[in-house]
Amino acid sequence: MSLPTKLVHAGRKKRYTQGAVNSVIQRASSLVFDSIETKKEATKNRANGALFYGRRGTLTHFALQDAMVEIEGGAGCYLYPCGAAAITNAILAFVKTGDHILVSEAVYEPTQDFCQHILKDFGVQTDYFSPLIGRSIANHIKPNTKVVFLESPSSITMEVQDIPTIVKAIRSVNPEIIIMIDNTWGAGILFKALEHDIDISIQAGTKYLIGHSDAMIGTAVANERCWETLRERSYLMGQMCDADTAYMAARGLRTLAIRLKQHHESGLKVAKWLASHPKVATVNHPALESCKGHEFFKRDFSGASGLFSFILKDRLTDVQLSDFLDNLTYFSMAYSWGGFESLILANQPEELANIRPVSGIDFEGTLIRLHIGLEDPDDLIADLAAGLDRIKQHKNKANALQSLV
Ligand SMILES: Cc1ncc(COP(=O)(O)O)c(C=O)c1O
Repeated sequence: MSLPTKLVHAGRKKRYTQGAVNSVIQRASSLVFDSIETKKEATKNRANGALFYGRRGTLTHFALQDAMVEIEGGAGCYLYPCGAAAITNAILAFVKTGDHILVSEAVYEPTQDFCQHILKDFGVQTDYFSPLIGRSIANHIKPNTKVVFLESPSSITMEVQDIPTIVKAIRSVNPEIIIMIDNTWGAGILFKALEHDIDISIQAGTKYLIGHSDAMIGTAVANERCWETLRERSYLMGQMCDADTAYMAARGLRTLAIRLKQHHESGLKVAKWLASHPKVATVNHPALESCKGHEFFKRDFSGASGLFSFILKDRLTDVQLSDFLDNLTYFSMAYSWGGFESLILANQPEELANIRPVSGIDFEGTLIRLHIGLEDPDDLIADLAAGLDRIKQHKNKANALQSLV
């Protein structure tokens, strides 16, 4: 079955839809047992699709979980209230005091913060590695290394990792190590993590699964060897999401292929236009040669989503950032991404240098991260062109502001 067809049909079993097209929204904490015998059966099968207690899931959750496994592969999918919960609980399920984990230095910043604060307090040590490390990852593995955490493309700077080489190198040193990936950028479909021998594929479903910037959910799809541990430990940590949100994520799946196709096309059009703009130094779009790891993107991904970044030749002052960003028509400034709308955020080089503990950064201009939504890309280009034109030198205004400080 081709992927767009699978996305339309996944998880829509009769048990979940009960005569409708979509799954029912079964809101429940208590699930009622008709007899001692049915309670016994439900208890026995509580982790395998029996209606047992709300925190183990209802028909709505099961429909989404089944769909995610059909789409990403693996043995099971755990649902969390947001992407950050999926990341932290997946890691916590596989480490204990005295363990060591390896994390790409360019992961989503709160993933780093979790390692630096919570894991550190629990006596789990984190070492970071460059996203471009390739087979040398083997040199960083210690006897107590339990987890390697990847994210590709990287957050903000967008380096694409050579995952097959990294995974092979890890497995050749210690096949027991659990390899996880934050697979949000490709919505779990543009890069097939489990087919690349990764154990757990994590998504902030908040982005492309939900797709409309109006709900939060996290998913973690695990292979056979990790599923039971992930499921039982996440359950003990009280992780679950509400039925309405699970329903919205399943609904998002139905249009995911067509939305991603448009994000890809429009994103690439805007990225190519930016690449020839006189104020732009580099465009970090995985589908362009200028992006680090572009060759791995071409080899391993089936397409691009709408998130990428570019670096300006200059480091903009706060006044210049306002010139550019405060008066855009279609781009909003907001965290998150993956919805139908376009978003823009600026990062100064020193802010990024602070969160790249191994390699630092190799640029001096302001980095702008874009999420290209489903608007007409020509309108978006016109909006960006006008914004970039508004950036002026402002000698007097900058001086005036400085004299006020
Ligand atoms: C790459 C990545 N992973 C995880 C998350 C966390 O997702 P959530 O906001 O649903 O916790 C984000 C959020 O921006 C993200 O960009």
